[in-house]
Amino acid sequence: MKFFIDTANLDQISEAQSLGILDGVTTNPSLMAKEGITGKQNIIDHYKKICSIVDGDVSAEVISTDFEGMISEGELLAALHPQIVVKLPMIKDGIKACKYFADKGIRTNVTLVFSSGQALLAAKAGATYVSPFLGRLDDISTDGLHLISEIRHIYNNYGFQTEILAASIRHTMHVIDCAKIGADVMTGPLSSITGLLNHPLTDIGLAKFLEDYKKGN
Ligand code: E4P
Repeated sequence: MKFFIDTANLDQISEAQSLGILDGVTTNPSLMAKEGITGKQNIIDHYKKICSIVDGDVSAEVISTDFEGMISEGELLAALHPQIVVKLPMIKDGIKACKYFADKGIRTNVTLVFSSGQALLAAKAGATYVSPFLGRLDDISTDGLHLISEIRHIYNNYGFQTEILAASIRHTMHVIDCAKIGADVMTGPLSSITGLLNHPLTDIGLAKFLEDYKKGN
């Protein structure tokens, strides 16, 4: 399972990278705005900074909603760095753009996916990643994990190579449940990754080992 961090915060990206288990970064316009990164050039510079910190894939989202706009924006983003994956919204022109980029060998992440039908279309268009938003479904009392299972089942049926990127992860149990289902990737906040470190028995056990070591020395 690949671990992506879902943020545009450079300190958090660096912290996750320093763990040695980070496979990539996802961003979106809201995450950029949260860090105060606005304006085309600043956003582009920020993507370059993120690519200089991590080794893996960095999803960079287009803001156009028409085919031509997505193509020109996506080509510009893809040319920034080999680690960039063009993030496209799950709308009709997004699917057309996804197919266009797939044919050109440019990697894509189809985002804002909330149904297995949408995920099927993304796979048929040759998406590198499909991003079902688990947490946002849970937020409206709909079983986000069920969607991830359905997509896994459908992709397995036909051998689609599109990787399931479980997005909108909110906490550690989402990560565990997605791993059980067989999602290829998770993306979530730093806390959903570092939270996996914790167990009180580890802390108690370590304290006891260190205490016993001191007794013998
Ligand atoms: C995915 O790539 C999105 O950036 C993200 O996971 C959305 O998460 P949210 O629902 O917590 O905003």
